[in-house]
Amino acid sequence: MKIICRCQDITEEEIIDAIRQGASTIDEVKRLVRAGMGPCQGRTCRRLVSQIIARELQKPISDVFPPTFRPPNRPVPFKLVMAEFQRQEKEDLKKAAKPKIGKKP
Ligand code: FES
Repeated sequence: MKIICRCQDITEEEIIDAIRQGASTIDEVKRLVRAGMGPCQGRTCRRLVSQIIARELQKPISDVFPPTFRPPNRPVPFKLVMAEFQRQEKEDLKKAAKPKIGKKP
């Protein structure tokens, strides 16, 4: 038993079963067995899954359709999100405080 997706404890056999059920892309394997849906979002297992698909379907790895990515692709510390929010809030306050020149009320 060879674990391929450490986050979800998905074995190579489970991935091969998914391919035999008709999965031919990383996303299809993900939908069937959840490989790539763990906390690392497939950063660790994606390459291994594509190698298994290529090997099982006997096609070059470049022909394995890449997965779709959804933001954020990397974990973002919440303090960075809050810093950006506060920066935008300050900017909005400055804009609101500026007198509008040339416009009649
Ligand atoms: S190792 Fe597969 S999602 Fe993290």
